[in-house]
Amino acid sequence: METPLQAGTANDFLLQALNRRREEGLLRNLQTENGLIDFCSNDYLGLARSEDLLCMAEKEWSQLLHKKSGSGGSRLLAGNTAYAEALEKEIAQFHRAGSALIFNSGYDANVGLFSCVPRRNDTILYDELIHASVRDGVRLSPAKGFNFRHNDMAHLESRLQKAEGTCFVAVESDYSMDGDYCPLKEIAELCSRYKALLIVDEAHATGVTGEKGEGLSAALGLENEIFARLHTFGKALGCHGAAVLGSPALREYLVNFARSFIYTTALPLQSLVSIRCAYRFFPAMHQERKKLAGLVDLFRSASGEAELELTPSDGPIQCILQSGNTRARELAGKAREQGFDVRPILSPTVPEGTERIRVCLHAFNTPGEVSGLIDSFS
Ligand SMILES: Cc1ncc(COP(=O)(O)O)c(C=O)c1O
Repeated sequence: METPLQAGTANDFLLQALNRRREEGLLRNLQTENGLIDFCSNDYLGLARSEDLLCMAEKEWSQLLHKKSGSGGSRLLAGNTAYAEALEKEIAQFHRAGSALIFNSGYDANVGLFSCVPRRNDTILYDELIHASVRDGVRLSPAKGFNFRHNDMAHLESRLQKAEGTCFVAVESDYSMDGDYCPLKEIAELCSRYKALLIVDEAHATGVTGEKGEGLSAALGLENEIFARLHTFGKALGCHGAAVLGSPALREYLVNFARSFIYTTALPLQSLVSIRCAYRFFPAMHQERKKLAGLVDLFRSASGEAELELTPSDGPIQCILQSGNTRARELAGKAREQGFDVRPILSPTVPEGTERIRVCLHAFNTPGEVSGLIDSFS
């Protein structure tokens, strides 16, 4: 049992927990801009730093008739606009979905979706590497949640055989920690065979995967096999926020039941303007996607020559495995000393023995920077 709080010691239990983390070498710190070469952000296409996007957004903003700094409330009260609804229609059309509903973040969207759609006697099966926002949504859900081994179809099938009620299967198209893609076609077939409803988090595929960056589901023509898709705007789109795509009934249900949609102030108009402009930009960024794919190939071949062990990823998230928190931290430190911004991912965030340096490649990185980064490790 936790020791009860004594008068005058309100901070003591906080400090104790922080000290424990410090002793374990796991204390997290906020860091500000550091001028290092970016191998860390999710700005895969460079849109967050794009002057062109900024100019387009400023122009669009200057042409708006009804400007407000803040949205003024929840979407269900004063915070909704015709602009938001028009943008949702554009987003749904682009990703070939029946509807889209914008949330303030991907975190809010996953928590809202998973906590309110599955019911008491339903089952949620999620990949063991699924993002924390899905896990938190599952924890808030009255349904039972079980994980299955990462990308393991046999294990997923054995779980599907035992599932009760309506079964939901949650996967990421491109996994945020390992960077590998899910076998979406096989998963969709399995879900269809067991009449399970598939939910795909496309956070890291949005803008990057598919001819126009439409995401893995639409690129494979699987959009009609999927119950709900999540696209986030804070990664390759360089903005903030997210949308859940699905049927018009799902949209109306979320407006009525998703607490992280209902009980929060809506995004301000400036954010919506940036998102709308990003949607005018990224579909045509073919050169950037091609360059990014080239850098991924270069990174993997140079890492192979340097005998670095990688996770099996074809996407812009690449991970160099380095067993043990101390070694992972040291390796990341070496790269940072030489000017490359990379971060170690330590256990227990990842299982012990699979500690790693997570490298995010971007269309704005140069081949010389990628080679320099690999050299800094060896
Ligand atoms: C797979 C995945 N889903 C959801 C999120 C949450 O998105 P957001 O950063 O917009 O809250 C993230 C980002 O951290 C993510 O990696």
